[in-house]
Amino acid sequence: MTMKGMIFQLGRSLNRAAPVLYRSVHSGICPASTAATTPRTECLLTSKEIYAREDKYGAHNYHPLPVALERGEGIFVWDVEGSRYYDFLSAYSAVNQGHCHPKIIAALKAQVSKLTLTSRAFYNDVLGAYEEYITSIFGYDKVLPMNTGVEAGETSCKLARKWAYNVKGVPKNKAKIIFANGNFWGRTLAAISSSTDPSSYEGFGPYMPGFELIPYNDIPALEKALQDPNVAAFMVEPIQGEAGVVVPDQGYLTKVRELCTKHNVLWMADEVQTGLGRTGRRLAVDHEDVRPDVLMLGKALSGGVYPVSAVLCDDEIMLTIKPGEHGSTFGGNPLACQVAMAALEVLEEEKLAENAQRMGELLRAELRKLPKDIVTTVRGKGLLNAVVIRETKDYDAWKVCLRLRDSGLLAKPTHGDIIRLAPPLTIKEQELNECIDIIKRAIMSF
Ligand SMILES: Cc1ncc(COP(=O)(O)O)c(C=O)c1O
Repeated sequence: MTMKGMIFQLGRSLNRAAPVLYRSVHSGICPASTAATTPRTECLLTSKEIYAREDKYGAHNYHPLPVALERGEGIFVWDVEGSRYYDFLSAYSAVNQGHCHPKIIAALKAQVSKLTLTSRAFYNDVLGAYEEYITSIFGYDKVLPMNTGVEAGETSCKLARKWAYNVKGVPKNKAKIIFANGNFWGRTLAAISSSTDPSSYEGFGPYMPGFELIPYNDIPALEKALQDPNVAAFMVEPIQGEAGVVVPDQGYLTKVRELCTKHNVLWMADEVQTGLGRTGRRLAVDHEDVRPDVLMLGKALSGGVYPVSAVLCDDEIMLTIKPGEHGSTFGGNPLACQVAMAALEVLEEEKLAENAQRMGELLRAELRKLPKDIVTTVRGKGLLNAVVIRETKDYDAWKVCLRLRDSGLLAKPTHGDIIRLAPPLTIKEQELNECIDIIKRAIMSF
């Protein structure tokens, strides 16, 4: 270590407490003068102090709703002052099974003290069981395990390019992937290269070549784009979540399937947000009984407990990637595999897709009774829903979300005037009715 590094290390150990998480704030707060030296496990912070600390030490790449959470159970979360809230975001659909689901936590605990990570340099005794289980559920030959949703997208794009060169016969470095306007699949350079949202891509160029965009829910545009023989794949969300829960016309996915087959192009379905029961079916593509060539899963694949994502496809595509050509240190680790198996079992055992379907119909029917001059649109499938708020000088989606928070329900605006309503899929009818009342009262209070 250099002299400068040693002085820095010494300074850190003398002046700073280890950044340990504090336990609870219910019984008081940490005096400001001791904040830097008192171990954080003893330090009791208010919500406002928590916002200030994150603001000071964390990057400003998010704009959270002001609420500081410390506990979650099922459909509820609690803030550090002890107030309870219905969670209507579910960590962007990662917590479909509800917060800290006992079965998923038990699976995590059973594995965590046994073996957590081997890397893929060696075999482990859980990965194969998980691979067999997930491929049998979704009906694909193989799975490639990764961690985050965006890695599932990156993996799919790499598979599409390899397949294009090795199977379809596209000339070297000429492969194209088509995306739909309004898509969202994460924050890597490849993901933002396909984005049409300036807040995602602006200032981060140069962008990935070989990506093209067409309008969403536009079959003639797709048909035109697929005329190009160098097109490897069309990657699309069955419902665009981040764009504001944009639901395509009935029959869109069936037509996408037909056209991709006709033009020998892979259809890659990004079900990172829509999959795993969220829209009222196990997969959103199940609404039209169609099968993508490549399926991306993430988020709720762990019930929000751990980053777990997956790409599923058949051998013709998956085996184009050979040993050493793609991977991840953490992908397929035994802890993730146990968590994912438990998370998938919960979805099936508790029939969460069926519940999402029923609860979603109820939610939309009630929200559609709200005055059209305030809530201009209610849309969604299952428990992936959105309301569009007509903005005035008195209210907008952010203000509505603050009022919802004050009434005990957490939701987040997306794109200014849209509020996504996506509770955990475990919500019961009586709880949903209470939430509908909260939402109606909050909106009508403007
Ligand atoms: C459809 C879709 N794909 C991919 C992602 C990226 O997932 P992650 O944030 O885990 O990388 C998201 C995240 O919101 C998503 O909604």
